[in-house]
Amino acid sequence: MKIVRTFATSANIGPGFDTLGICYDVYNEYSFEISKSFCLEKFKKEFSCPDSNLIIDSYKKTFEFLNKELIKITLKEEVQNIPECRGMGSSASCIVAGVLIANEVLGNILSKDEIFNIAASLEGHPDNVAPLIFGGFTSSYKSDKFYTNKFSVNSDYKFLLLISPFKLSTKKAREVLPKQVDIHVATSNIANTISTIYALQNGDIDQLIRANNDLLHEPYRLSLIENADIIKKIAKENNASAYISGAGPTMLVISKCDISDKFILENWGKVLVNINNEGAFVYEK
Ligand code: HSE
Repeated sequence: MKIVRTFATSANIGPGFDTLGICYDVYNEYSFEISKSFCLEKFKKEFSCPDSNLIIDSYKKTFEFLNKELIKITLKEEVQNIPECRGMGSSASCIVAGVLIANEVLGNILSKDEIFNIAASLEGHPDNVAPLIFGGFTSSYKSDKFYTNKFSVNSDYKFLLLISPFKLSTKKAREVLPKQVDIHVATSNIANTISTIYALQNGDIDQLIRANNDLLHEPYRLSLIENADIIKKIAKENNASAYISGAGPTMLVISKCDISDKFILENWGKVLVNINNEGAFVYEK
């Protein structure tokens, strides 16, 4: 039996809007095999039909993109730990799963860079799929195609995900963003993004906290996320840095000590995660 394993990710990391991302050791797994028709097993009802399943959609689009004759599969959801619509990269996880399964069924014809480029084109922005495919902490951007860089992260840092009991669609969270920004906003975000990368690499928590001043997306999204302001305040009081994870509503707290007991939020999940450095892969069981 062949299995694809994909991981949860946080995009943005404050000022690195649509650019930075981190991959965690929280994963989903799907088994797959070639079959006479498309068949989905063990999925939630809303994703149990091939036309409403993002993995199958991405799988089919990969075949189209490569101009290959479609091969039908049976897909089973085996492990599901990444919650949907919570800003933990569940859409990227489905898209990357679809591309990786297509690549496997076609006999491993794609390089990692090609897998990344197909997945980023399907997602529209590369900041979740880059860490998911390459593992670790990445920056990514588009010029003639999508490119990514991978950075080390100081091992003293702790990553806490505060997972909201409610959902927020990325579409809605993107609709509230401005179409244009002032030059000073752009300059400030460039400086804070570079400082964030430096601080994560070098373990400089004071700089990480100082650089946590995004002006591109968080000011417009915080009001969509009940408790986000209080989470940011508690983090700062405890020498930690809190961000909207991706488009939210999950919040990411980065600190040097475990401060999870400081957050008492009714019905919110709290998960201390480790960074996954290998990225999504297919294996045989
Ligand atoms: N960078 C994206 C956003 C991540 O913030 O809208 C969500 O997919």
